[in-house]
Amino acid sequence: MSPSVLNANLSRLAEEVARIAPVSDMVHLDVMDNHFVPNLTFGLPVIEGILQDPAIRSDCHLMIDDPDRWAPEYARAGAYSVTFHLEAAREPAQLCSALRNEGARAGVAVKPGTGLDEIDRLGDLVDMILIMTVEPGFGGQSFMTDMLPKVQRAREIAGRAEGDVWVQVDGGVGPQTIEQCAEAGANVFVAGSAVFKADDPAAMVQTLRSLAEQSQA
Ligand code: DX5
Ligand code: ZN
Repeated sequence: MSPSVLNANLSRLAEEVARIAPVSDMVHLDVMDNHFVPNLTFGLPVIEGILQDPAIRSDCHLMIDDPDRWAPEYARAGAYSVTFHLEAAREPAQLCSALRNEGARAGVAVKPGTGLDEIDRLGDLVDMILIMTVEPGFGGQSFMTDMLPKVQRAREIAGRAEGDVWVQVDGGVGPQTIEQCAEAGANVFVAGSAVFKADDPAAMVQTLRSLAEQSQA
């Protein structure tokens, strides 16, 4: 479980992270630059602040232009996992290697309209494939059921790799949709509004985890 704080109260980011971090495997941090996506959140200085707490395992989702330049900086800052968008990267293979060299897991994300052939060709360089199940930019959108075949294909690609490659879903994931994602082969689940709109966000993380575990492919 990797809850997203995008729909939390961002003016109290550390407190919001603390509400869910103890029951979460990672904390999903959505970096948006107002260029790659039409929304703006936070960047490296804010994430460096969050990472001062060594107990936080950060899952940085970079929705930014020029990840070749910026993504390794997040890894250097101590991010556990750094995911860049394939659509924005000039040299994805080199970028994956750079992220690993800086000590992070290398994630590659695709928007709904982007296929997986290029990720397939990256082979063992990738530690996590992120299938966007909404158009990136905003929380609270409806889950795109037509992305499920792509999740299945990502699981096949992950299964052929030598290492432990994760398949993450992000967008519209909640109690109504997480089971289908797990059945299709996802094993890392981002949930933003489902968690932070719940009365008890930590309890919702646990509920979502048990739904996913029961449906795991
Ligand atoms: C959207 C972000 C997501 C977002 C998901 O572009 O990448 O991580 O927080 O929010 P929900 O779960 O509300 O769809
Ligand atoms: Zn995200």
